[in-house]
Amino acid sequence: MTASGDAEPVRLRDGSTLVIRPIGPDDRDLLRSGFERLSEHSRYMRFQTPLASLSDKQLAYLTDVDHHDHEALLAIAPGDREEIVGVARFVRVDAGVAECAIVVADDWQERGVATELLDRLVQRARSEDVTRFTALVLAENADALRLLERLGDTEQHRVGSQVELDIELPAPRQASPPLKLVLAAAARGLVVPAISMWRQVADFTHARRRADAVAEPANVIVAHAYATEDEAPALNVAADLAAARDAHVHLVDTYWPVVSDRAEIDRRLTAAADELRARGVEVSTHLIGGDTVDAVIDVAEQTDAALIVIDPRAASLLTPWRAYALPARVCARAPCDVLLAR
Ligand SMILES: CC(C)(COP(=O)(O)OP(=O)(O)OC[C@H]1O[C@@H](n2cnc3c(N)ncnc32)[C@H](O)[C@@H]1OP(=O)(O)O)[C@@H](O)C(=O)NCCC(=O)NCCS
Repeated sequence: MTASGDAEPVRLRDGSTLVIRPIGPDDRDLLRSGFERLSEHSRYMRFQTPLASLSDKQLAYLTDVDHHDHEALLAIAPGDREEIVGVARFVRVDAGVAECAIVVADDWQERGVATELLDRLVQRARSEDVTRFTALVLAENADALRLLERLGDTEQHRVGSQVELDIELPAPRQASPPLKLVLAAAARGLVVPAISMWRQVADFTHARRRADAVAEPANVIVAHAYATEDEAPALNVAADLAAARDAHVHLVDTYWPVVSDRAEIDRRLTAAADELRARGVEVSTHLIGGDTVDAVIDVAEQTDAALIVIDPRAASLLTPWRAYALPARVCARAPCDVLLAR
């Protein structure tokens, strides 16, 4: 399969057939209806939040992909009306590293759809110079953990209620047409392929976290500093306190892997940091995948923080309703004082 939109017919072990092809901007309605048909459980497992619907902006982000840094493959069931039965996606987050995620329609699960999609996603990733996948999966999601671990040599790290996977992808297959047939048979379970696995790259995420862990004299943590459109009270309070106490400010923001527009969040985080630096404050930024509370508490503990500052109105773009729970959840676990800035 190439990035240009080739559709590939696939036969599952139970004899049913599907087509797998890359997503395109015309697939918004298809994706919306596929999402609407997902059970609450599957939605929660995929998005790790009780997401009720996808906004137009999210649909645009999820379908209008460049097939290089962002790729998504659809599994489509044949029939009078096209129906999405699965989506596998990667988004590049660093040189050679991409986050991946997958979901399969409930009535199509345990029939090999995810295996077929991931097989092709890995091939697409390797041909775009992605050598590692990361994934953030709920710790209770044993099916997904098993499925993703099979892709290659995997390291797991528990992050709160989630597990972060770091998967070394197998080398690209130089498949000649006859070999392709053998591989297709292997995917259908007729032959068991030998997948070589190797372990060579240290976990950069944890190395980076350890580097962040150097204690500093007075650290102030700010969550979602800029999240209200025109005001940034948490940022202002943190700047004033930092100036008065010679503190180092850590700005923390989070994204949901493969559904948030991480580049946009990163831009806003950098802009907030630049604003503080212009006011003479020392700043570090932390853009972390997953739950905001876990991220804030992690950074507070690692930096031996003196104070966490939160704007209770700060809304996550993806899950605005969660923002109201943020202060209470942070207070319950904070290793230091918490200040609400309004
Ligand atoms: C996790 C998820 C993607 C798996 O999709 P799936 O299509 O059911 O996965 P597969 O069918 O390829 O494989 C699942 C199991 O079914 C088995 N299977 C596949 N075809 C089969 C068949 N014809 N008969 C019996 N079992 C079969 C596989 O061997 C595998 O079993 P194992 O893991 O115990 O060895 C799916 O459950 C899902 O969408 N969950 C919600 C979203 C989610 O959790 N996403 C992951 C986080 S990003």
